[in-house]
Parts: sequence; structure tokens; C-alpha cells
Amino acid sequence: MATIDRTFHVDPATMHLYIESLGKIGWQDECGAVRLAYTPAWMEARKQLSAFMQAAGLEVREDAVGNLFGRLRGEDDSRTILSGSHIDTVPCGGKYDGILGILAGLGALKTLREQAGQPRRSLEVVALCEEEGSRYHATYWGNRAMWGMIRAEELDALRDADDISIGEAMRAAGFPPERYHEAARSDIAMFLEMHIEQGRILYDEHVELGIVEAIQGILKFQVTVHGRAEHAGATPMDIRRDAFQGAAQMALDITRQVEERGRPAVVTMGRWDVRPGGVNVIPSEVRFSIDLRHPDEATLRQLARVCSETCESVARRRGLEVTVEQIENYLPAGMDTALQQTLIASAKTYGASWKYMVSGAGHDSEQMSRHVPAAMLFVPSVDGLSHNPAEYTPIEDVVRGVNVLTATLYQLAY
Ligand code: HGY
Ligand code: MN
Ligand code: MN
Repeated sequence: MATIDRTFHVDPATMHLYIESLGKIGWQDECGAVRLAYTPAWMEARKQLSAFMQAAGLEVREDAVGNLFGRLRGEDDSRTILSGSHIDTVPCGGKYDGILGILAGLGALKTLREQAGQPRRSLEVVALCEEEGSRYHATYWGNRAMWGMIRAEELDALRDADDISIGEAMRAAGFPPERYHEAARSDIAMFLEMHIEQGRILYDEHVELGIVEAIQGILKFQVTVHGRAEHAGATPMDIRRDAFQGAAQMALDITRQVEERGRPAVVTMGRWDVRPGGVNVIPSEVRFSIDLRHPDEATLRQLARVCSETCESVARRRGLEVTVEQIENYLPAGMDTALQQTLIASAKTYGASWKYMVSGAGHDSEQMSRHVPAAMLFVPSVDGLSHNPAEYTPIEDVVRGVNVLTATLYQLAY
């Protein structure tokens, strides 16, 4: 497709109001945005979004796990063209990750309703309830619920740092967990997600839009190292079984091997738990997370072997026990080429510069692409910063992205 039929211009003031209103909800000074699934801040953000969806003239509905939808009903109401992203954040996140994709979809549907009237095919914007896995290892919870992929045992098994199960948290937020399966849908025709890049390619190269070809694969592990608690002063170094020293050696050795592999391989050990935690006690148990990513499946699996072999060899050398448990496994996902071409035709019609990209970050589009055609549109992140309260995308970049998304949705639904 070379060009598109019509262009639209979303109101910058509306987008600014949306971003600033939602950005305040769950904001903690000295930290940033904290909107974890089923918490009061998460509830408050959904309430504000629901009000904005209503004011935009959309039909608002929430499903059994807390996904929030705004619908612009089409003449043919049998299938749904969906746009949106996730409402939850990482701890101390920014004002754009996830939420901007929801607000972009909302701005697009508001503009289409006002400037183009009723679509031929129904359009929806979705605030997916949980994507980050910040409170629970539930990553893509809202997405998985829509595809009937939640397993009943997860409702009790998934527990947060206070040992509250996701089922209990759901019930407390007004979503009876026994009804989770009612969230499954079969009417979704395709999914489009606008998102900040969260890296620095567009920013460094002064390119205005990213057309995502693929989302790289993500493997996550929980490593548990057992040693022996002993006196920090009376125990010679050469006979210790120090679980932290072992875990630190594992982390450093894994990092070195992934660095030697070179870009785009990445590994992160972001969550640590050291017990018993006494200053004068040799740690007996350490748990740490491994987040391993690569766009090529075979390389990803090979690096996963490097992680487990490294942990085992360090444990042997230091007289420790170690378990490496895989907790998430998302293989690389290709985005739909036809939808990419429509996004490109829209970008060209607006005279926007664009480039193909592989996404370093995981996104709801990865899950959606397993079931329906999905595509992503990136807008730049200043300094490549994200998962950081200083995350920022200038309003003109936001508006350019929303305009291209709006014209693309028009092309697909009218
Ligand atoms: O981890 C990710 O890439 C995403 O932010 N959930
Ligand atoms: Mn994120
Ligand atoms: Mn995100």
C-alpha cells in the first residue's frame, strides 16, 4: 500500500491533558510512577481512563480480570480492531511506558468518532491490566486472560512480596477470581500498539517513528543459591560456604559471557534477596533474577544454557547448592507485515521519517501476535531512558505518532 485515503490531526492539548492526568496517578516523589496490578493507584488510573473514554463518546466496559475497554461500534459489529497497551508500571517507572499506548488509542478513537463518524468495523482501545510482572510473575496477565491462557492454579500460586495471591488481590479489587475465564474473547481481528521505544536508536538517529518488525525473545529465571550461615568474624575465608559470594560470581561470569557475545544479546539481574541479611552473618541463601534476551531463538536458548552451566560450575567450586528455575519464556515474535505496510504508508503521508526496528523491550503485541495480526509503532524516548521516572517523549512526537495511528486505524476500519 503506497498511500492512505485520509489524514487526521489529534488535538495536542487533549493528549497533553491525558498524559499529565494519568502521569500523576501513583506518582511517588523520589521514585516515580508506581501502579501495580490491583492496587489503589491501579484502580484510580482505571477510573480516570474510564472517564476519559466516556467523555470521548466510547462505550466503556471492563472484563473479569480488570482489562478496561472503550468501544467505537461499527456497522459490522462482529469483529474488533483493537489498539492499546498496559496500564501497570514497573516500580519507580515513568509517565509513558504502557499508558501512552492506551492514550494514543483513546486519542485516535476520539478523533475518528469526531472527524469520521461511525466506522464500518468496530474499533476498541484497551487498558490491559498487567504486563510488567512487577507485583506478580504474571506477565501479560490481562492479555493472557483475553486468550484463555490463564491456568486456574495461577490464581493461588502467583503471590506478591506480602504473600497475597493474585486471586485475593483480584477479589479485593472487585474481580472475583473464579470468573477469570469470562475474560476470554474470540472477536479480536487485529491489534495495534503505539509505545515509546525505550531505547535510544530513534533519538540518536533523529528518526521520528519506528516500525517494529519483531520483538526479541525473553527468558527469565529465578536462581536460588544455598550455602551456610556462619560467623562473619570467626570463619576463615577458605572454608566459608558464602551464598552471596557464589551468587555474585555467577552473575559476573554470566554477564561477562553475554558481553563477549556482543549486541544485541542482553542480560539483567535486577531483583536480589539475601538471607538472613545480618551484617555479621555469612549469607546462607540468595535468590536473584535473570532476564535474558535475544532476537534469535537458537542464540537465546544457547545463552540460557550458558546461564545454568555457569551457576552449576560456580556452585561446585564453592561447595554450594544451586537451582535455576525458568519462570518466563517468550520466544521472538514477528509483527504482521501487512499492518507494518499500512503504518508506513501513513507515516509517509504525514511526511514523517521512520525506520524498521527490532524491539528490545517485551510488549503486549508479542502475546497478541501469537493469535492475531499485530503491529507496533514506536515514538522516540529522549536519551533512550525508560523504566525510569525521567522517561520523556515530547508532545510533538506523541502527536505525530497518534496521527499516524489514527490514519492507520481509519484505513483499517472505515
Ligand atoms: O520487560 C519488558 O521488556 C517490558 O517492559 N515488560
Ligand atoms: Mn515496561
Ligand atoms: Mn511497556
